[in-house]
Order: sequence, then C-alpha cells, then structure tokens
Amino acid sequence: MARNIVISGASSGLGRALAIEFAGPGATLGLLGRNSERLDETAARAREKGAVVRSAAVDVRDRDAMRSFLLDFDAAAPIDCIIASAGVTMVTPVPGEVEDLTRAEELFDVNLNGAMNTIAPIAPLMRRRRAGQIVLFGSLAAFAPPPDSPSYAASKAALVAFALATRALYRADGVSVSVVCPGFVDTPMAGSYSSWKPLMMSPEDAARRIRRGLDRRKAIIAFPLPLYLAARCQQWLPDSLRTAAMLRFRAVQRLPVR
Ligand SMILES: NC(=O)c1ccc[n+]([C@@H]2O[C@H](COP(=O)([O-])OP(=O)(O)OC[C@H]3O[C@@H](n4cnc5c(N)ncnc54)[C@H](OP(=O)(O)O)[C@@H]3O)[C@@H](O)[C@H]2O)c1
Repeated sequence: MARNIVISGASSGLGRALAIEFAGPGATLGLLGRNSERLDETAARAREKGAVVRSAAVDVRDRDAMRSFLLDFDAAAPIDCIIASAGVTMVTPVPGEVEDLTRAEELFDVNLNGAMNTIAPIAPLMRRRRAGQIVLFGSLAAFAPPPDSPSYAASKAALVAFALATRALYRADGVSVSVVCPGFVDTPMAGSYSSWKPLMMSPEDAARRIRRGLDRRKAIIAFPLPLYLAARCQQWLPDSLRTAAMLRFRAVQRLPVR
C-alpha cells in the first residue's frame, strides 16, 4: 500500500477528503493548495490520524515552485503515489455564450498545465524506481460535456486522454496511471453553480471509492456507476437525443470562482 503520498488541491473538497482517507500511522503526506489556512486545517486533521505531514501553499501553475517542493519531498520520502486533484470549474457567465477567452485560458492553465507541473517532476523518478502510482483528475463531464461548461469539459477530456496514453507508456516501467472521473461530489466546487446534480455524494464517500480503485490500479475510476454508464452510453445516441439529454444539465454560476 502507498505510504508516501502527495496530493494537490488538499485544501478543499476531494483533495482534503483523500488526505484524511490516506492519513494514518506510517503515512507521510505532502499536501499542496493555495489557501494556507484551509491547508493547515487539512494537515491538522491528517496529523490527528497519525500521519507525518509536509504542506506548502503553492500555485500549481508555478512550475519551479512545484518542482522544488516535489523533489525535496521525494528526497526525504520517495513518493509512492502522486495525486493531481487541484482544479477549477467555470460556468458560462452569459447563458447561451461560451466562456470569456481569458478565463478559459486560466482554467486550462490550472487544470492542464497545473496537472502536468504536478506529475512531470516525479514520473521519471518513479519510472527509474520501477514503482509508483500517478493519479489525474478527470470528470464524467469528459464523456458527457455539460452545455454551459465547454472549457471545463474539454480540460477534463484532455486529462482522461493524457492519463490513458501515459498509462500505456509507463506500464513497462511498473508505474500505474489512473484517472478519477467523479460525477457530482458535494464540495465547494459543486456548490459554486446550480444545476441538476443527480446522485450527488459526499467527498468522504468519493475518497473511499477512489482509494478502492487505486488499490486495484484501475485505469478509470469513475462513479457513481449508473451515471458513468449513462455518460458513456449517451455518446452513442443520435445527436438530437444526446443534445436533449445534455440540456437537462444546464447550469448557472452561483458563487464567484475562488
Ligand atoms: N466536485 C465535483 O462534483 C467534481 C466532479 C468531477 C470532477 N471534479 C474534480 O475533482 C477535483 C477536486 O475538485 P473539488 O470538487 O474538490 O473542488 P474544490 O473543493 O473547489 O477544491 C479545489 C482544490 O483545487 C485547488 N486549486 C485550485 N486552483 C489552484 C491553483 N491555481 N493552484 C493550486 N491549487 C489550486 C484549491 O486550492 P485553494 O482553494 O487553496 O486555492 C482546492 O484545494 C478537481 O480537479 C475537479 O475538477 C470534481
């Protein structure tokens, strides 16, 4: 079982729930986020469960700072599992329009480049050690893109593709790559917009499912199953039916993106 685990996005939501899920005696956790106060709360809860914790407030877009934290951490505690959970979402501010280009660019920067900055320094070390797990965060939106979040869905589809490609590439080196594709999870991200959110689950439940999937080294850890099956099957529907189905997921931004 993985003991030295680094998690980005650990200051909130799924990243925090995963940190607490993996915390325990013998675990060394590297926790990353931007908000120090919330990151400290996660760290305190993980330490209460017996984990050794090193945390740092770093923006995932800051490639040098990410590299420096990750290599320092790895030198002290060779990373068994690296989880790139940090991400942002966006719902189009004007219904019926695609997102503002600048904000879309920022979203791609965090979701895509941020994930690359998280895994790139560690992947070669894992391959050399012939051991390790790399975990990227997609979404069911990668398979069933909601109409009001085209950039978010595109960023998640890119991460699914990247994960599946590197999974095949790294297999010979004993490194396992997984992509987590949740449906709706009750986190600040999901609370930032209103829409139909069927089968929404708690972050704790989601973290347990992710852990089980990682124990089995699954390629795609997608849940809940009925929504995953619906998301995959709608891809094969005739366009008019698929479009009608996806229009049920119209969304409105409720809170500013933080
Ligand atoms: N919740 C859902 O329904 C759902 C569904 C499918 C997929 N996902 C994916 O699951 C992952 C976690 O989402 P969540 O629901 O837990 O969201 P969340 O509660 O909003 O947490 C997002 C985390 O990402 C971090 N983050 C955002 N921008 C960052 C940046 N530039 N640099 C460093 N850290 C940054 C945040 O850190 P700070 O707050 O400290 O800035 C926070 O810790 C995301 O990749 C998301 O796309 C979520």
